[in-house]
Amino acid sequence: MGELGGFTGWLIVFCYGMAIMNYVVRWTNKRWFSKLHKDSLIKRYYLNLMRFIVQNHRWFALTATAALILHFIMQILYRWVSLTGLIALALLLTNVGLGIFGYYFKKSKRTRWFVIHRTAALILVVAIIVHVLLA
Ligand code: HEM
Ligand code: HEM
Repeated sequence: MGELGGFTGWLIVFCYGMAIMNYVVRWTNKRWFSKLHKDSLIKRYYLNLMRFIVQNHRWFALTATAALILHFIMQILYRWVSLTGLIALALLLTNVGLGIFGYYFKKSKRTRWFVIHRTAALILVVAIIVHVLLA
């Protein structure tokens, strides 16, 4: 059962990584792919990939949340209560809450909400790295 704890941990990392790709694919598009000719095959493939990541952003984040609940239960049952884990959990849940709020109430990206949502995502990277290194 202990292995399932490790697996769910990496599942959170994967889904969270896919959620944060929202930023990466938009940035790369703006910087490079948008400058390619409109008939470019590479550009077409890239836009499909970007659409997939952007449209499924909330589902990646919500799957990460489900995996986190499982990870939390497995670790407190079969391992221990990790402080760094609790910090990462608090940040992730806060950001999911912020994401849901923004999804329903903030139609413009140029708001304080967006800056906070993006910054929290970045702080979470650090929190997760610290947790994985120290557990
Ligand atoms: C965003 C939140 C979290 C992420 C991404 C995450 C991810 C991970 C990962 C990838 C591992 C390493 C697994 C391995 O070495 O194979 C791990 C280990 C661990 N996690 Fe988390 N975790 C999170 C939250 C939590 C929470 C809330 C707790 C408990 C309160 C927790 C408790 C632990 C423990 C005790 C270990 C060490 C298990 C061992 O060495 O046997 N984690 N976590
Ligand atoms: C693990 C949790 C989450 C992380 C780490 C995260 C991360 C991010 C990041 C980095 C961006 C910036 C993208 C850019 O620069 O264009 C973003 C945008 C956004 N996020 Fe999240 N997010 C999370 C959860 C959610 C959830 C649960 C929702 C909605 C239900 C959501 C809704 C949005 C919306 C509406 C945007 C604005 C851009 C867009 O429409 O894609 N996020 N998120």
